[in-house]
Amino acid sequence: MKTEAGKTALITGASSGIGRELATLFAKDGYNLVLVARSGERLNDLADKFKQQFGTSEITVIEKDLSDPDAPRQVYNEVTGKNITVNVLVNNAGFGEYGKFATETDLQKELNVIQVNLTALVYLTKLFSKDMVARNEGKILMLGSIASIMPNPMMAVYGATKAFIYSFSEALRNEVKDTDVTVTVLMPPATDTDFFNKAGAMNTVAQQEAHKTDPADVAKAGYDALMKGKDKVVAGFQTKIQAVASRVLPDSVVTSNVRAQMKPQGQADEDSNTGLWLTIGAAAFIAAGLVIALTHKNAGPLDKARYAYKKGKAKYKVGKAKRKAERAIDTVTDEIASVYHDVEAKAEEVLA
Ligand SMILES: NC(=O)c1ccc[n+]([C@@H]2O[C@H](COP(=O)([O-])OP(=O)(O)OC[C@H]3O[C@@H](n4cnc5c(N)ncnc54)[C@H](OP(=O)(O)O)[C@@H]3O)[C@@H](O)[C@H]2O)c1
Repeated sequence: MKTEAGKTALITGASSGIGRELATLFAKDGYNLVLVARSGERLNDLADKFKQQFGTSEITVIEKDLSDPDAPRQVYNEVTGKNITVNVLVNNAGFGEYGKFATETDLQKELNVIQVNLTALVYLTKLFSKDMVARNEGKILMLGSIASIMPNPMMAVYGATKAFIYSFSEALRNEVKDTDVTVTVLMPPATDTDFFNKAGAMNTVAQQEAHKTDPADVAKAGYDALMKGKDKVVAGFQTKIQAVASRVLPDSVVTSNVRAQMKPQGQADEDSNTGLWLTIGAAAFIAAGLVIALTHKNAGPLDKARYAYKKGKAKYKVGKAKRKAERAIDTVTDEIASVYHDVEAKAEEVLA
């Protein structure tokens, strides 16, 4: 469907994975494209495909290594030199480095992670957002991650870049809120792309989990949120639950949950189950509490009785998850019990 003929989307990291799927969605909707990545050949193949399949009229391929500090300025100069107005900026290029920071990972690779995931993103956003604000029009999509809100042991630097992106986007969105420029953060879970291979994180629990998430679905969630001007989108149901839980669970619990996901497959110990159960249990409790609180407010006596029953049932389920977590590991049960207690107290307070 051609809805955006004449507009241009610039996508970094369009040569594979989520970026490639995003580029496809823009092409389908009639956008002209600027495709940026190191693999010029793959970008040119993609450009040919889009021209044939969707009749895309203008596609500019920019073969560029974004770990080069001058690259963002060069990309901007090339685009403006061709009189292209970028209506949508997609900061997607990114990668990670797997291993223990103090003793295992390669510093140069980590500095490149910062350069590509962060510095290039900030640089490109600076250049293009200025023009967007001047025109009072534009959309920016940032590739965050579920790691944006959960520290990522074994990929500590990568996770921190994603946390930066989240914070930066939140602040930028606030600054441009009186304009027609929007900033959307896409937060995918582990997704089935070449990401884990490039990071050296093959055969981890997370990499195995990634097979469940199709990059095309992640891209669609991001694209739809971007088009609606939404602030952020967490792709995937379980990830949404984790995102909610990460807001109320202690940081140490959230972090050890992620750590368990980063272990080699087969070596995941009881901690991983504990983390998962803690996460799901807490989130279920919060969700149930909120639903009950909201619906209870305006209900008649019969409905109130029904909600009371549902509340009891929800509590039972949470209790079950909590007991399972307690059996799995003793060291964190005190922490989670206190969280449950707090949440329960809050829910009772709202219901009173
Ligand atoms: N897959 C996941 O589990 C996951 C989860 C959450 C967030 N994300 C984020 O999603 C984004 C896309 O990753 P993906 O999963 O689609 O992985 P991917 O398939 O490896 O794609 C990464 C893209 O970034 C580009 N890129 C990497 N280094 C670059 C450099 N130095 N200069 C220019 N381009 C570079 C790559 O192009 P070239 O190699 O051709 O340069 C490629 O197009 C990343 O920001 C990643 O952090 C991924």
